[in-house]
Amino acid sequence: PQKSLTASDIRARKGGSPLVCLTAYTTPVAQLADRECDLVLVGDSVGMVLHGMSSTLNVTMEMMIMHGRAVARGLDRALMVVDMPFASYEESPAQAFRNAARLMAETGAGAVKLEGGRHMAETIRFIVDRGIPVMAHIGLTPQAVNALGGYKVQGKGSDADRIRDDARAVAEAGAFSVVLEKVPAVLADEITAEIAIPTVGIGASAGCDGQILVIDDMLGLFDAFKPKFVKRYAHLAADAAGAIRTYAEEVRARSFPAAEHVFVDERSGS
Ligand code: KIV
Ligand code: NA
Repeated sequence: PQKSLTASDIRARKGGSPLVCLTAYTTPVAQLADRECDLVLVGDSVGMVLHGMSSTLNVTMEMMIMHGRAVARGLDRALMVVDMPFASYEESPAQAFRNAARLMAETGAGAVKLEGGRHMAETIRFIVDRGIPVMAHIGLTPQAVNALGGYKVQGKGSDADRIRDDARAVAEAGAFSVVLEKVPAVLADEITAEIAIPTVGIGASAGCDGQILVIDDMLGLFDAFKPKFVKRYAHLAADAAGAIRTYAEEVRARSFPAAEHVFVDERSGS
């Protein structure tokens, strides 16, 4: 079996060929992603794309562990990162370490990801110093949707310095990489040039050290809405709807199952 990439391998790709990253929540999709990706994230987006939740706020540790275990079974090469769910790390560095350690132990992940910049720097340092690689996530941080007043672009105009400070803080705190979500492209490029760890963009810039998308978004499987930063590389929801319609028509017409789908009993001679 192939050796998995580690957080240090990802960290060492700063300024090199772009890191290819996707989310995954299930074994079969993880197997597909593993063929092309350097990093596979078990994102808390699972709550919205697979469980029909209206935000990521109600995602639990148990959900992350169950999906993490499923994804781990599908990966050979990519680094697996598991999102820390809302309220599992914000209280204190000790709470964060305890839950990060549980996610690592119970899923076999190689790292965790958490949302927040300057205000989470102390926590990132605490976890990293105790042996758990941390990916940070700044800019639009969906777990803070209520405080941010919606899923808006972050760091426009004079707000750019806030995001820049967050990027510096998480890099200095020891994060091995940082997700930049929904920030102006110029700002993403400036941050990428300035900090020593790889930036992974989503709604950021092609100049980032890597890109990530939610797999159900890029496959056109989740089509409740489409953020501007999502590119649909396939239209699986439309394909699935067509397949289900054809199946329904064939059941109603008794043209499914056909001869090749049914079993013969010698007794009947056919
Ligand atoms: O939960 C998620 O899918 C994420 C990525 C979009 C970065 O955090
Ligand atoms: Na997330």
